[in-house]
Parts: sequence; structure tokens; C-alpha cells
Amino acid sequence: MKKIFGLATAGVILLTLAGCASGGSGGGDAGAAAGPKPTDELVVGFAQVGAESGWRTANTTDIQNSFKDAGIELKFSDAQQKQENQIKAIRSYIQQGVDVIAFSPVVETGWDAVLNEAKAANIPVVLTDRAVDSQDDSLYVSFLGSDFIEEGKKAGQWVVDEYADSTDPVKIIQLEGTTGAAPAIDRAEGFADVIGADDKFEIVASQTGDFTRAGGKQVTEALLKANPDVDLIYAHNDDMGLGAIEAIEAAGLVPGEDIKIVTVDAVKDGMQALADGKINFIVECSPLLGKQLVDIVNQINEGETPEKRIITEETTFTQEQAVEALPDRQY
Ligand code: AHR
Repeated sequence: MKKIFGLATAGVILLTLAGCASGGSGGGDAGAAAGPKPTDELVVGFAQVGAESGWRTANTTDIQNSFKDAGIELKFSDAQQKQENQIKAIRSYIQQGVDVIAFSPVVETGWDAVLNEAKAANIPVVLTDRAVDSQDDSLYVSFLGSDFIEEGKKAGQWVVDEYADSTDPVKIIQLEGTTGAAPAIDRAEGFADVIGADDKFEIVASQTGDFTRAGGKQVTEALLKANPDVDLIYAHNDDMGLGAIEAIEAAGLVPGEDIKIVTVDAVKDGMQALADGKINFIVECSPLLGKQLVDIVNQINEGETPEKRIITEETTFTQEQAVEALPDRQY
């Protein structure tokens, strides 16, 4: 008899796990009524987005180290920012019969078919970092990650405060993350919500830099030519902000002074640029999700119901705070 999981009714999630009499390998056994599996027999498949940014590299390292420390086998795949690769990886984990599948969806849409396949195979799915926009929330057990709308709002609030005494128009370039990705959609929304209250703020151009340094540089070079009088760049991550710094310097301008820069993430390179005065403000997005993901896997194995939404704790950094925080920054 196989495990049955993930029935969400009127906001209440019922996790029902039934035993596996055959003792066969892989999926469907975790959290069985016969009792949890020994930790060293658990297998988790993790489908990562790619290696597009310093944040992503830190996230991968943290997840791999956390599972190693917990003594749980982790199968890992890198989708190189392509949804089709992630879907292939998830299908392969289903075929291999892993106990839990975790993944960080490259974009929000288009997951229902493969998530239904995981559900049919009785393999619990955990979303990490990014959300899917599926109407059926029984397709995943838990979603662990940041509140990206809140991050966008924090960035917007800094901009509002910074220009509080100015009556002149404030021209903004926005460097968007990967088109269709939850952090790109939500960070744009949160930011627009806050700056939208005052019409002196104008987003004069908004384009994707795909969360990469090269993308941020290339897009900024082009947008600066069309908007030489821009006041501020809002980049959806540090890497694109770091690319923008290169483009601003190549244009003979001073980043952080001639053009202010606000980013999201707070990885070491971003924090260094903030401490150096080249970035003006960073909203933190923590990549350290590994230990919490291990906890969720253990809860599933024990037959417990993890919280449906677990929001990561995060802060913000000014230039002075970056100088203080840098020596202890883990990533
Ligand atoms: O989903 C989190 C985002 O993805 C990070 O902010 C960005 O750096 C990464 O590529």
C-alpha cells in the first residue's frame, strides 16, 4: 500500500500516510504508517534553477551542506535557468522514486502537469525560494522562502525616504529578474506600490537582465544611452546591480553618486559594493534555506504536516550597516 498525502480542504491540510508492506525502494515510503524511514535511507531530489547569481551559488552550497550534515542523500540537478530542464529533472526523480522532491521554480507558470505526476506517484513536493501560481495548492506540501513583494516594498520605501525633500522628478531604471519568475514579478509589484504614491517617481525604463551580472551590465549600457539623465537604478538582485556599476563606470559616471543603486540579496560582493559606496541600499534575501528544508523533509518522514508557508527572516542594509556586517557575512 502506498502513501497518500496532501489533501487540502477548507484551508486544512490532511496528510495521510499509509504503510508500505513491500518495503520497496524509494518514493512513497517516507512517513509511512509502518513508521518513519531511518534518516540514512531517505532520498531527496532537488531541482535547482541554475547558477545565475551569487545568491544561487550560496543557496546551492547551503542546501547541499545541510543535507550532508543531516545524513540524508540529496540528488541534485541544475536546470540552467530552463523550465524544461527542471521538468525533466522532476520527472526523473519521480521515476527514481525519491522520498521527497524539492525545487525552486524558474518561472511561476506551467507546473500543474508535472506536479500532478508527482502527486499520482505519492511523492511530496516542497517549493523552496520561489512560488508556482497553481490554483491547486494540494500539489505541494510546503513553500519555504522570502516574501518578494515585501522586499520590493522595502526597496521602494528607501527610495521614497531618500528623495523625501526633493520636488524634482526622480527618473528610475528598473533591472528586472528573469521574466515570469516570482521574484521578478513580486519585487516589481512591491516597489511600484510604494513609489506609486508620489508621481515625482517615474520608471523611465524596465528590462530584464535575467538575474545575471552580464545581463545587468548589458541592459544598463543600452538604457543609459537612451536615458542619460537617470537618477537611480533599482536592480532585482545584487548581480545585476554589480553589472550596472560596471556600465555606469564605463560611461564615465560614479555609481552611488551620479546614479544611485538599490538592489536585493545582500551577498558578499553586493555588500562590498555597498560598503564601498557604489550601491546605496540593499534589501536582504536569504539564500540559507537548507536547514529549514531538512526540517521539512524530517517532518514529512515523521508523518507530520509542515507549515504550508514558511517565510524567511530578512533585514535591510545601509552603507554603514554593510561595513559592520561584512566581516561576519557567510555568503
Ligand atoms: O529567487 C531568488 C533570486 O534568484 C535571487 O534574488 C537572485 O539573485 C536569484 O537569482
